[in-house]
Amino acid sequence: MLIRTGTDIRSSEVTDRSLWLDRRRFLALGAAGALALSGVPAHAASLSTVRGKFAADEPLTPMKDVTTYTNFYELGTDKSDPAQLAPSYFTKVKPWSVAVEGECAKPATLGYEDLIKPHQLEERIYRMRCVEAWSMVIPWVGVPLGDILRRFEPSSKAKYVVFTTLQDPERLPGQRRAILDWPYVEALRMDEAMHPLTLLAVGLYGEELLPQNGAPIRLVVPWKYGFKGIKSIVGIRFTETPPRTAWMKAAAREYGFYANVNPAVDHPRWSQASERRIGEFLKRKTLPFNGYAEQVASLYSGMDLAVNY
Ligand code: MTE
Repeated sequence: MLIRTGTDIRSSEVTDRSLWLDRRRFLALGAAGALALSGVPAHAASLSTVRGKFAADEPLTPMKDVTTYTNFYELGTDKSDPAQLAPSYFTKVKPWSVAVEGECAKPATLGYEDLIKPHQLEERIYRMRCVEAWSMVIPWVGVPLGDILRRFEPSSKAKYVVFTTLQDPERLPGQRRAILDWPYVEALRMDEAMHPLTLLAVGLYGEELLPQNGAPIRLVVPWKYGFKGIKSIVGIRFTETPPRTAWMKAAAREYGFYANVNPAVDHPRWSQASERRIGEFLKRKTLPFNGYAEQVASLYSGMDLAVNY
């Protein structure tokens, strides 16, 4: 993950927040009523949600920035590449299925509609911190990952959950080059995966995910650096041992397995003590566990977080 300095997006554009709040009021009519009123066909990309219990009370990052300043190396290594390339390459994200296998009683390959039940969708406003020292506040739509994983009845041997991104150089042309060892792989410890903050996201700002943000299904773990948030997931495997993730294979010294946001542990090439919120000029201090210490610090009690970075 390269640091760019000169090309950062200026976010002086009007925030989408008021528009989005109108949409929320609109959705409060209920999906059916809203669709009837709008004349929008039933396959519209808006998602009806309930407000989840965790919500960062901070100004949202404008939707334009969230959807155009992205990391998705399968669609290019510049922040602007994925939004530019996705409309030509990653055009088809449905039908989509996810194979869930490994240490569990009920392995299965499920289509998107069987995996994600609309009544489970929640909205969660999370602070997100990228390892490159920028951050955003994003209103995600998703399902707590634990609620989904439990359906497959993980066994007592399931200590880790490993996620895999779609492998398809036709739709993800970055995979034609050996930038990373494709497919992108990420993993969580079982207790991290089952933590109520951990989300399998399918949308943001009340709409289905755009391809550049990891459509149709991606991981969101707000107390970890953004690279843990693997996009366009097609595989979930319960394992007894931790895998080597894509970024650990690329540079183990720079990207550890835990990747908990930790202002006290610098990246070998830059400080993690502060961050630039996209759309703001001055830097702000980075908080331990990205401000979610109260909820998650106990998962790591007794661990040396400078060694287990
Ligand atoms: N997932 C895949 N498959 N490929 C990637 O390159 N980049 C990661 C993560 N998930 C990445 C990925 C990184 S480095 C970050 S910061 C987040 O996605 C960014 O998510 P966003 O672009 O939706 O903000």
